[in-house]
Amino acid sequence: MRSFFHVSDIGDLAAALEEAKQVKATPLAWKSLGQDKTIILIFFNSSLRTRLSSQKAALNLGMNPIVLNVGADSWKLETQLGVVMDGDKSEHLREAIPVIGSYCDIIGVRSFAGLQDRSFDYAETILNQFIEYSGKPVISLESATVHPCQAFADLITIEEYKTKRRPKVVMTWAPHPRALPQAVPNSFAEWMNAADVDFVITQPEGYELDPRFVGDAKVEYDQMKALEGADFVYAKNWSCPGVTNPDDYGKILSKDMDWVVDARHMAVTNDAYFMHCLPVRRNMIVSDEVIDSPRSIVIPEAANRVVSAQVVMKRMLEDML
Ligand code: CP
Repeated sequence: MRSFFHVSDIGDLAAALEEAKQVKATPLAWKSLGQDKTIILIFFNSSLRTRLSSQKAALNLGMNPIVLNVGADSWKLETQLGVVMDGDKSEHLREAIPVIGSYCDIIGVRSFAGLQDRSFDYAETILNQFIEYSGKPVISLESATVHPCQAFADLITIEEYKTKRRPKVVMTWAPHPRALPQAVPNSFAEWMNAADVDFVITQPEGYELDPRFVGDAKVEYDQMKALEGADFVYAKNWSCPGVTNPDDYGKILSKDMDWVVDARHMAVTNDAYFMHCLPVRRNMIVSDEVIDSPRSIVIPEAANRVVSAQVVMKRMLEDML
């Protein structure tokens, strides 16, 4: 595997889920695979789960993980080509990336969407530079448009908790005080469309995700109707993807608190499990009552981030043998 961005990069999904089961059962069984190998994890943005689960996965495989927080631990990096570098950015990605690539075997990059320029974000301009100039396999640790390690962990969790062959999975938009990227909902939609689930997306008008991620998913604007009979409720905020109106890209169009997932919403489901990628703002996205209930599986979901990262890194290391 040269890079990990999309569900297609993992190949056969059933085989990947079976491998995830084995990795979870015996996480140290491949400890020699990463011996004398180094992974550099680059963070342009904050993280709790991604940085810790990626380091843990690398250590389970015997690799040496190095974390770099861009700006705090390094020079500030310029990402735009063709600019006069007379501001506060001391180094360009064009030099930094091949240098980083020369120090390691695998690179993981977290680089959120700027939410200012849809074309720049949706072209994955920063991640693609890492792929082009590093010469090393690259893992998206949430880039401008995708968060594949999260979506893979989400699917592993659904597989573990489902009680029917084809569960109903509903991803619902929920309000948030700040404009958030679309990477998590994009990837969740992409992975659910590839999985054997009945997948529904519900959101207010104007929040339509990019069609390349929505695929054949059912879109229902009535949140309560969408949630009827759900086996899994996946809550997430995202800012306007700019699909219907490009001028609204990255904006907050609604803060409608009726969309906060609470007991009233869960009551119409099939006693659904509640999921969220975390971090979550309580009583903005989900009520205390729901996230603290026995049907909330946000902690095992986060724990599965080690498993998803380890499967991806394991496959990259196996390709180097
Ligand atoms: N879900 C997730 O990616 O968490 P962090 O932002 O804390 O890494």
